[in-house]
Amino acid sequence: MSEALAGLKRTHVCGALRSTDCGNEVVVMGWVQKRRDHGGLIFIDLRDRYGLVQIVFDPESGAQNFAKAEKVRNEYVLAVTGVVENRPEGTINPNLDTGEIEIRATELRILSASKTPPFYMDDDAEVDEMVRLKYRYLDLRRPVMQQNLVLRHKVTMAMRKFLDSKDFLEIETPMLAKSTPEGAREYLVPSRVHPGEFYVLPQSPQLFKQILMVSGMDKYFQIVRCFRDEDLRADRQPEFTQLDIEMSFVEEDTLQDIMEELVAYVFKETLGVDVPLPLPRLTYEVAMEKYGSDKPDLRFEIPLIDVADIVIDSDFQVFANIAQKGGRVKGINATGCARYSRKEIDELTKYVSVYGAKGLAWMQITEEGCKSSITKFFTEEKLNALCERMNGKPGDLLLFVADKAEIVADSLGHLRQEIAKREGLIDENEFNFSWVTEFPLLEYSEEEKRWTAKHHPFTSPMDEDVELMVTDPSKVRTKAYDMVLNGIELGGGSIRIHRRDVQTKIFDLLGFTREEAEERFGFLLTAFDYGVPPHGGIAFGLDRMIMLMAKRDSIRDVIAFPKTQSATCMMTQAPSPVDDKQLRDLHIRVNAAKKESPKAE
Ligand code: AMO
Ligand code: AMP
Repeated sequence: MSEALAGLKRTHVCGALRSTDCGNEVVVMGWVQKRRDHGGLIFIDLRDRYGLVQIVFDPESGAQNFAKAEKVRNEYVLAVTGVVENRPEGTINPNLDTGEIEIRATELRILSASKTPPFYMDDDAEVDEMVRLKYRYLDLRRPVMQQNLVLRHKVTMAMRKFLDSKDFLEIETPMLAKSTPEGAREYLVPSRVHPGEFYVLPQSPQLFKQILMVSGMDKYFQIVRCFRDEDLRADRQPEFTQLDIEMSFVEEDTLQDIMEELVAYVFKETLGVDVPLPLPRLTYEVAMEKYGSDKPDLRFEIPLIDVADIVIDSDFQVFANIAQKGGRVKGINATGCARYSRKEIDELTKYVSVYGAKGLAWMQITEEGCKSSITKFFTEEKLNALCERMNGKPGDLLLFVADKAEIVADSLGHLRQEIAKREGLIDENEFNFSWVTEFPLLEYSEEEKRWTAKHHPFTSPMDEDVELMVTDPSKVRTKAYDMVLNGIELGGGSIRIHRRDVQTKIFDLLGFTREEAEERFGFLLTAFDYGVPPHGGIAFGLDRMIMLMAKRDSIRDVIAFPKTQSATCMMTQAPSPVDDKQLRDLHIRVNAAKKESPKAE
């Protein structure tokens, strides 16, 4: 039943028609959102990505057209010729941009039929995500998904415009790259012409962009796909997009200034949101001490407060012991939460236990005094000191955790977020940006039982900490920074090492032998022998930025064809087995049992 266009041209998009178009003959094309029969009249809502328009068929539309209109079902693709008319009095729809007009049809062509779709193309329809991903082409017809992709397009256009105006060059770097294991697991690509050898898909263009600085391309950017075979979450995909940037002849503050200007420009251009500059900058140490996180959500306050000095000589053995052994004892003031029931406090205790806390001590401050799980262990004087330190007022609930530093930070850092959520302290319309700076150089990997680079091995130590690399490497701070938005890491970067001796020292610290370092990164080190400018850069997670801008909870909603939690594509069924000939050509023998049927999720 499909008809051809046969020279018919679209004159207008569905969403664009207004009463000023009345009297004009137009041709619109799109999908059927809904058809309603009213005796001698048929109404069809036709949808394209610009909006909806109502089309009316009456006997004057011609018997043939009317008969065709009767056959039309949801999601059929139509071309309609007709005349724009004002809707009759009382039928105007103020909720629709085209709600004042309708098109009285003179010709209908059914360009394509549709099976009954598995779900409605409606923003409010509750549809299981696996079904949405399987029929992604239908999911992407929904206005909300279309808006997300439009926003994504606008954001990348604005980024390019801004960066071009500042003389940045967009340069592509290879997707078939060299394996430099460090960081996430890599995706391998077997080489046919070099038996037994592999390329990897890049985790980021890090080394190439640094080499571009050696080439004199002093301001580089790329909107680039990156690949990481890591455990997936709502804000992580195996392939994702970075806005990747590198600059020569700059230090941290210059780079940060330009980057925040870029972000402010993009938010203004696309959302009309003013981002006040300069962004607040806090060091990693302050962020961890005060908020228990290196990506603190600063839309609300609730600081972590140290009380170790007060409890160290108390009778509460748990706290006293931990404080004496150099552990940490800290608390937060859940303002106005003294009303919480035992059940609610038990929920919070369970909540922090996920982050390793062995308990959650609490104090309810009332007009009559202090009610607490630990009052009996404290003298009046100590209780007063605790209250005062915590800025506790009647009506407040004080919550404490004692443990090693990481557990105290992690559990109270998450608890402040939970309290803010419960108490409605978070303004969902706010975009709260900050920089976290001076990240430590090293991080101990429990899994690998060795020190690893917190950012990456090319990050420059702070000048004043270079000596510590010999005496106390765990204390070395770096010229690394993250941009944080509403408690999510939006981007991260650093000033790089451009001195070979410092780079060699870092490789030593990370446990690479000279040969290993040479084998993996030799090309970079060699390039650095030929005149390397001081340089630094950053990469923003584009998907995360769009997710936050579009106020979605998952980056899957702002990626046209994302993968599931288990890294599969529901629509194409990738990954999939390949035939034996392909494997033979690639010199590969597969050990795993072959899957016969498409994967079940
Ligand atoms: P980094 O590894 O911090 O830095 O990555 C930069 C930003 O990319 C985003 N991101 C992700 N987004 C979605 N899914 C993922 N799996 C994922 N992993 C990271 C985050 C993160 O802040 N080459 C360095 C940058 C540099 O030093 O210039 C790099 O890749 O938003
Ligand atoms: P207990 O004497 O073990 O019953 O503990 C008294 C209170 O202290 C309870 O509210 C526990 O949740 C809390 N508590 C126990 N250990 C810790 C800890 N390491 N940090 C914070 N609170 C704790």
